[in-house]
Amino acid sequence: MITIRPFNKTDRAALRQICCDVADRGEKIENFFPDREFAADLLTSYYLDYEPDSTFVADVDGAVVGYINGCLDNRRYGLAVMFLIIPKLIIKGLVRGVFFRREFLLIFKSMLKNWRRVFVWRKQSFHSHQGHLHIGVAKGFRTQSIGQKLVRALLDYARQNNIHELAASVHDGNTAACRFFEQLGFVARDQYPMMMAYGDSFKEYHSVSYVKSII
Ligand SMILES: CC(C)(COP(=O)(O)OP(=O)(O)OC[C@H]1O[C@@H](n2cnc3c(N)ncnc32)[C@H](O)[C@@H]1OP(=O)(O)O)[C@@H](O)C(=O)NCCC(=O)NCCS
Repeated sequence: MITIRPFNKTDRAALRQICCDVADRGEKIENFFPDREFAADLLTSYYLDYEPDSTFVADVDGAVVGYINGCLDNRRYGLAVMFLIIPKLIIKGLVRGVFFRREFLLIFKSMLKNWRRVFVWRKQSFHSHQGHLHIGVAKGFRTQSIGQKLVRALLDYARQNNIHELAASVHDGNTAACRFFEQLGFVARDQYPMMMAYGDSFKEYHSVSYVKSII
């Protein structure tokens, strides 16, 4: 039986695992990033360490098969990532040798090419007090309405906390996720050109910002 429930800290390892299993448009993160542990810290630390009440999980017979990470305040998120999470990750990356790997150098180059995402596009949401979300459902459990139940749980929680809008950023090649958000009433508000390193080459795509009004 599927149960949607608030996250608790015993779900941490399973959630990090699913997050890395689905990070490349539903496929595993190793397609473009070499260190799963480092990536899981980068992608989930804010939500699990600084705002765990905004995360919900889908539980099937005691196993976590999906999650939704929510953030109800993008400004708080930006500050925590910049001043608390990135400094710890720099140390961890040096200790684990992540930054000296060839794959990382290419990723770093693509991050530089995407500088506008952080300093121009994110600036608007940083000042908006809008929230955002990330969602992932394990491969064998997709298209069983788990994703929409997770979104509804977060929307209810956000509404109770007087949040007016939640946004999700989606790779435009991720057609399943685009359809998913559109089906749930999210509207594509903006799209930004981005660059991503895959092996030795860079691939261009657009990051689509889907927004749902929840007044
Ligand atoms: C996107 C994702 C969360 C959807 O979860 P899900 O549990 O499979 O979705 P649901 O079963 O609740 O589907 C809800 C609606 O979304 C649409 N949808 C979901 N998967 C779809 C697919 N593969 N193709 C087309 N439409 C799809 C359908 O309209 C569906 O409604 P319907 O069942 O009435 O037709 C899941 O595919 C996933 O984890 N993908 C990898 C991670 C990701 O891309 N996250 C989004 C970026 S934050």
